[in-house]
Amino acid sequence: MPGIQGKVVAITGASSGIGEATAAHLAERGARIVLGARREDRLDAVVDRITARGGTAVGVVVDVTRREDLRRLTDTAVERFGRLDVLVSNAGTMAVSPFDDLRQDDWDAMVSTHITGLLNGIGAALPVFRRQRSGHFVNVGSTAAHVVKSPQAVYAATKTAVKVLTEGLRQESGPDLRVTLVSPGFTHTEGVGKGAGPEVAAAMIRQRDEIAMPPSAVASAIAYAIEQPDGVDVGEIVVRPTAQA
Ligand SMILES: NC(=O)c1ccc[n+]([C@@H]2O[C@H](COP(=O)([O-])OP(=O)(O)OC[C@H]3O[C@@H](n4cnc5c(N)ncnc54)[C@H](OP(=O)(O)O)[C@@H]3O)[C@@H](O)[C@H]2O)c1
Repeated sequence: MPGIQGKVVAITGASSGIGEATAAHLAERGARIVLGARREDRLDAVVDRITARGGTAVGVVVDVTRREDLRRLTDTAVERFGRLDVLVSNAGTMAVSPFDDLRQDDWDAMVSTHITGLLNGIGAALPVFRRQRSGHFVNVGSTAAHVVKSPQAVYAATKTAVKVLTEGLRQESGPDLRVTLVSPGFTHTEGVGKGAGPEVAAAMIRQRDEIAMPPSAVASAIAYAIEQPDGVDVGEIVVRPTAQA
């Protein structure tokens, strides 16, 4: 099925930011969206906004660190819409801090959300894609995997893992599947600085407000990868604000 119209797209981390913008953009272009995230009220609000504009969307409460939750997300796509064409693995946390702060719960959360969460998505969607003999993984990485900036080492390491896993998956995917890494730079979302220490958060928010691009820029990049003809795989898109060094 070429293009975006009619495709069934599941998106993790769709309750805000890049995931929400991607859901809205793809729904506007005729995709049927299955949104996953932990905050039910925020998911409901996104579903309501999409349906009010004539789109099709359903929300599923999902914690990507839980294998069974990802399976529920992909099962919902298949049960409601008969198939799953794209899984956008976007859920993430940017609770960055210097090592000396010893915020080990935040380190664990970044590892489990970005690495285990991505693997849980692959585990849930791959059998569906193989059965259908078609499917597209779109994984959201970060420019942090290209340039490591203190105090983002743990975050950058997990996003480097996303990059590596995406390339390995692409090599194993065969002729029927597509695999894309979308690596955003500074994007204006509520997630920037969220959960970080007060000093780091203030600096990140200041920089975000000075240079960040809107999440719609990342949504357009994801749409570009999805709308390519069958058999054409966009391997990686790096999209960052011009002002980002
Ligand atoms: N903003 C940037 O500058 C930037 C740059 C490069 C890459 N990124 C990446 O872009 C992605 C989206 O981030 P964002 O900027 O849009 O921030 P955001 O608005 O905070 O969005 C993060 C999303 O992930 C969800 N999430 C977090 N942990 C989750 C979990 N365990 N299970 C399910 N959902 C979870 C959140 O929803 P709930 O809290 O409702 O679960 C939320 O919907 C992340 O992977 C981030 O690393 C962002």
